[in-house]
Amino acid sequence: MRPAVRGRFITFEGGEGTGKSTQAAMLADRLKTFGLGVVLTREPGGSPGAEAIRHVILSGAAKPLGPHAEAILFAAARDDHVRQVIRPALAAGHWVISDRFADSTLVYQGSGRGLDIDDLSSVISFATAGLRPDMTILLDLPVEIGLARKHAPDGEGWNRFEAEALAFHSRVRAGYHALANREPARWRCLDGLQSAEKLADEIWRLVAKRMEFEP
Ligand code: TYD
Repeated sequence: MRPAVRGRFITFEGGEGTGKSTQAAMLADRLKTFGLGVVLTREPGGSPGAEAIRHVILSGAAKPLGPHAEAILFAAARDDHVRQVIRPALAAGHWVISDRFADSTLVYQGSGRGLDIDDLSSVISFATAGLRPDMTILLDLPVEIGLARKHAPDGEGWNRFEAEALAFHSRVRAGYHALANREPARWRCLDGLQSAEKLADEIWRLVAKRMEFEP
């Protein structure tokens, strides 16, 4: 008989075009095949209130407000997402898989835009009431390759974040490496150049091992 498994909170992080959304969905599907309750979600967004804020941010409507207000909007969206979706799901014993979470703020608004990391950490703990992922999977890819993938003719078109200078995305990538090195027990950094199938298998092995989940 399979041992009882409690719900866990796993986040995917990475730059543009690293395949996070695909891998988050593949992991969620695989967990579901074991009869587990799984909630697949994303940031910015993931709850009706947060999706409304997502639209404000990604449409560029918030740009004139400046980077501080933008960071606060990401936090406001996260507050709703945590309260309405993530905490209730975890409390019900479900696994929550999120495509981006608070680390994106530290890296995009902090390393990328130069906002103070301690200030951002305070805003994040205010929004999350201290909720942190059990495990974070970083999909790592050279910036040029990730941006080229997003820019492919059949891509969805660039949002305003993806259109930023290469230098910005290089700072984001370095920011992720720094976070992952600082907290190796939580982070796993994987090579995003592998095929989607190989990556999914590697992620599955890591999750099963780290989360003490023995299918
Ligand atoms: P999205 O289209 O969801 O991109 P991706 O597929 O890369 O996740 O757009 C989300 C954008 O918002 C992405 O460029 C990263 C950025 N972002 C931040 O700057 N701060 C944050 O806290 C979050 C969650 C996202």
